[in-house]
Amino acid sequence: MYNFEGKVAVVTGGGSGIGRQVAVDLAKYGAQVAVVSRTEASGVETVQWIQQNGGTALFIQADVRRSEDVQAYVKKTVEAFGRIDLFFNNAGVMTSPAPIVEFSEELFDLTMDTNVKGTFLGLKYVIPEMLNIGGGNIVCTSSVVGLKGNPGVSPYSASKHAIIGLTKSVVGEYAAQGIRANVVCPGCVYTPMMDRYAAEFSPEDPSLTEQMISQMVPMGRYSKPEEVSELVLFLLSDRAPIINGSVYTIDGGQTA
Ligand SMILES: NC(=O)c1ccc[n+]([C@@H]2O[C@H](COP(=O)([O-])OP(=O)(O)OC[C@H]3O[C@@H](n4cnc5c(N)ncnc54)[C@H](O)[C@@H]3O)[C@@H](O)[C@H]2O)c1
Repeated sequence: MYNFEGKVAVVTGGGSGIGRQVAVDLAKYGAQVAVVSRTEASGVETVQWIQQNGGTALFIQADVRRSEDVQAYVKKTVEAFGRIDLFFNNAGVMTSPAPIVEFSEELFDLTMDTNVKGTFLGLKYVIPEMLNIGGGNIVCTSSVVGLKGNPGVSPYSASKHAIIGLTKSVVGEYAAQGIRANVVCPGCVYTPMMDRYAAEFSPEDPSLTEQMISQMVPMGRYSKPEEVSELVLFLLSDRAPIINGSVYTIDGGQTA
């Protein structure tokens, strides 16, 4: 059990996968949640689910690559709920796999703009609101491939390494002012992102991708979004008061 009563949370990528699960769980434990999503239908669906279960949530449409959208989601959250205490800086993309020589510059830019610039802009514009209220807690989503290379998705791997650098740097800049910022590094998680990856990696039979990857995981399976959400909520909560700048793998032992 957590108690997020009186806390206001912003969750990017809240219309799908890990972000949706964290938004739902934060609301379940009392937070008012701004669900930031690029696609209206999925973001609204998350908000409706939260509201039907007695929680409070607001849908905000935004493309995290665009500074004006990020500034707008911060402004709309503060207008609606008065403050920002918690930030799950999570939206991200992984494009079709290809070796670096064949990787298009366009998809490289998409990956960097979404995963690195989107994370940077979120930190840049949310942190001032946290400073206004004496602090706040942030979790950014990297990946196990932010800790090591991954053949086939080198730009994605590079972008996830960058997220760790951004988040750790924030700690030295703002810890004294009450900001905590940590990183989660999931292995493969059952979300639409992995469904799309499997459909491209083994189009003849997408389940072969899961079988192949699961063999590299000592515990033999992908993680579930609710398992990742458990870790994110812990880091966002007051139960982790001295954890700052830490990088948590959650991967069934894959990186061990
Ligand atoms: N699923 C996995 O196996 C896995 C593993 C490690 C890390 N991750 C990371 O977890 C995070 C969540 O991914 P997921 O697995 O839930 O996948 P997902 O595709 O279900 O969710 C990603 C979300 O990010 C949003 N998004 C993408 N580009 C955006 C943009 N420009 N502006 C606003 N929103 C945008 C999508 O609309 C979607 O809601 C991502 O950062 C991903 O890289 C996922």
